[in-house]
Amino acid sequence: RYGLKTNILGSHIHYEESVDSTQKVAHQLATDGACEGTIVVAEEQISGRGRMDRKWISPKYTGVWMSVILRPQLPPHRAPQLTLIAAVAVVQAIEEVTGLTAEIKWPNDVLINGKKVTGILTEMQADADRIVSIIMGIGINVNQKLEDYPEEIQPIATSLAIEKKEEISRAQIIQTLLFKLEKLYQLYLQNGFQPIRILWESYAISIGKNIKARTLSGTIVGKAIGITDEGILLLEDEAGVRHQIYSADIDLE
Ligand code: BTN
Repeated sequence: RYGLKTNILGSHIHYEESVDSTQKVAHQLATDGACEGTIVVAEEQISGRGRMDRKWISPKYTGVWMSVILRPQLPPHRAPQLTLIAAVAVVQAIEEVTGLTAEIKWPNDVLINGKKVTGILTEMQADADRIVSIIMGIGINVNQKLEDYPEEIQPIATSLAIEKKEEISRAQIIQTLLFKLEKLYQLYLQNGFQPIRILWESYAISIGKNIKARTLSGTIVGKAIGITDEGILLLEDEAGVRHQIYSADIDLE
């Protein structure tokens, strides 16, 4: 079990040298009935997927490219809350393994010194009234060097090695991440969203700040008030009107 200290997460591990996308593999496994805690890890993704139909560059041996299958017995409207758990687990794992301070930008970008180090893509298979599976895709930039990034993204992207100025063990990141994720997931199932929300808000950078939310249907500018009980971002515009943001890119003003 590769030194894992978890009970559920990683109970089944699909390790691949190269895949299209670990999300795609995990979706197929979930459709075929894979049990909760099944994970897909790859050394490289040829067509890694990001949020809002973007690509996720996933070069060989440099990062953690992983998808986790969860099967919580919950209604679909609770899925946004689960997305937030992943970001909290990543922050905790990064801090424990590297000692670096990481922050969350809603919904689930993890930043170090203002630059993105991790992206999370949570997808769901659901019936009308219950979640069938959650596929939590986590991409952590671990050992990339600055010159590995295209020039235009160097100002906004980073890796753990760049920030720590030394190589970081990807195995240790995975072990610690799955451990934290399992603890938080169990906390969530037992005690609900409130403890997760408190942790999430303690790591979040955008709350209380003026932001610009670029959604697929337009841009809204205002102050990020917090997240709702359902895990959705609340934004108050200049007229005092409150908007619930389900999906967007956030710029700090
Ligand atoms: C984003 O910030 O846009 C989310 C990026 C998510 C990337 C991860 S890497 C593992 C999993 N497989 C994918 O194809 N995407 C996610």
